[in-house]
Amino acid sequence: MWRFGLSLIICFHLWMKCCIGADHVETCSGIVPMRNRSGRISIADFGGVGNGETLNTKAFRAAINEIERLKRVGGTLLYIPAGVYLTETFNLTSHMTLFLAKDAVIKASQDTINWPLVNPLPTYGRGRERPGGRYISFIHGDGLQDVIITGENGTIEGQGAVWWNMWRQRTLKFTRPNLVEFMNSKEIIISNLIFKNSPFWNIHPVYCSNVVIQNVTILAPRDSPNTDGIDPDSSSNICIEDLYVSTGDDLVAVKSGWDEYGIAYGRPSSNITIRRLTGSSPFAGIAIGSEVSGGVQNILVEHVNLYNMGFGIHIKTNIGRGGFIKNITFFDIYMENVRTGIRIAGNVGDHPDDKFDPNAISVVKGINITLVLGKKVLQPGMIHGFKGCPFTGICLSNVNMNDQAPVGNRRNDPWQCSDVTGAAIGVSPLPCAELTSAAQAGECVLFPFELD
Ligand SMILES: *[C@@H]1O[C@H](CO)[C@@H](O)[C@H](O)[C@H]1NC(C)=O
Ligand SMILES: *[C@@H]1O[C@H](CO)[C@@H](O)[C@H](O)[C@H]1NC(C)=O
Ligand SMILES: *[C@@H]1O[C@H](CO)[C@@H](O)[C@H](O)[C@H]1NC(C)=O
Ligand SMILES: *[C@@H]1O[C@H](CO)[C@@H](O)[C@H](O)[C@H]1NC(C)=O
Ligand SMILES: *[C@@H]1O[C@H](CO)[C@@H](O)[C@H](O)[C@H]1NC(C)=O
Repeated sequence: MWRFGLSLIICFHLWMKCCIGADHVETCSGIVPMRNRSGRISIADFGGVGNGETLNTKAFRAAINEIERLKRVGGTLLYIPAGVYLTETFNLTSHMTLFLAKDAVIKASQDTINWPLVNPLPTYGRGRERPGGRYISFIHGDGLQDVIITGENGTIEGQGAVWWNMWRQRTLKFTRPNLVEFMNSKEIIISNLIFKNSPFWNIHPVYCSNVVIQNVTILAPRDSPNTDGIDPDSSSNICIEDLYVSTGDDLVAVKSGWDEYGIAYGRPSSNITIRRLTGSSPFAGIAIGSEVSGGVQNILVEHVNLYNMGFGIHIKTNIGRGGFIKNITFFDIYMENVRTGIRIAGNVGDHPDDKFDPNAISVVKGINITLVLGKKVLQPGMIHGFKGCPFTGICLSNVNMNDQAPVGNRRNDPWQCSDVTGAAIGVSPLPCAELTSAAQAGECVLFPFELD
């Protein structure tokens, strides 16, 4: 029921912001200790030259081998001074910090021909965009513990244009490389950096736990294909905060493999917090899926500001995915100039092959969306569950998208729903009957802000 005025909602919005800003700033600290390394080496000691032209592959690989060889208690910091360091791909090692000084840039070589390949991820069964293996990420870590990538706002530059063009011209042989990928790793911090022009996804923690990503800027052109910001994938205990992300695809997308491969591996993404994200993209602000075959649960997204988006919130799965999407909370989301505010749908994304089980249906249950303010939202909501397997516990409260625009495009039916149950309170424009009929209200613990 719509029982409060707009001004009240806005007051409440401001109160929440103010109260949280003043004396209750939640942070990721504590999840992974920020270590003070006992040893320190510089890329310059290994022949590194930051002139933007010299290829520094040997220097990076030698420096990191040295860290591995030293096995110093407390780990070693690799210092990258100001300058532009061109290099091919390199692997990190455990107990190290990669530190980019102010004005330090680590720049990816554009030699796509000699870019190394690695095996497909078991949860994907093939490369995400091409069959077979995949190009290794520019900066890679597998089976590591206690790794920090940080600095004074240095830049990791992917020079992705050459890859985007191969995608556009359909000449890619294998799946494009991520900018930074950690596999099977734990205790990872990525902070105080700028990521630019990734060939594909920017930051991809997969089969990881205890990962903090903080104070990071991620930039790629709006028309760059598949340049997702951060994709936590079959990973748990992840905390992401204080980000500015402007790319060509989803800003943050939580995943867990797809179809028979993800189902067989069965590793969910869980315990993930995403907070204080500002950004812009033609796709989604926050996405869950569409790869959810290992399951996605216990996700909190709060204090997010989105501008010029395709979708604000996009929860997506497909026939054959299996898995689940459970206990997802969105709180305090502002969106402006957005095509679809909230979309929850069961018919999104493609398949690795035709071996998927059409009876493998994702369970989508317990999605709480509270305190959303949308301006110039073309269409507030689309929620389409599976026929015979509805999405349940879809709970919306204090969602205001009254300011639809442009006025000429205003839809008569601002919420489109099918095969969904749940409840809505304080939602405007008034949502579909599936969410407003009192019978289902028991599925939702709605936000306690209610005036009677
Ligand atoms: C880190 O270690 C250095 C050298 O031992 C010391 O000077 C500095 O205060 C330490 N910093 C922190 C945050 O512990
Ligand atoms: C980096 O690690 C991958 C596997 O994780 C391995 O295939 C590759 O050979 C390593 N590259 C170097 C230069 O050591
Ligand atoms: C780091 O970069 C961001 C984005 O460019 C900027 O807003 C911030 O002020 C920078 N911080 C420092 C310490 O330079
Ligand atoms: C985030 O960046 C700002 C300025 O760029 C800096 O003052 C602050 O200490 C950083 N926060 C963390 C947790 O490093
Ligand atoms: C998620 O967090 C809960 C509560 O803190 C904890 O009990 C659970 O073990 C965590 N799950 C994983 C996979 O780490």
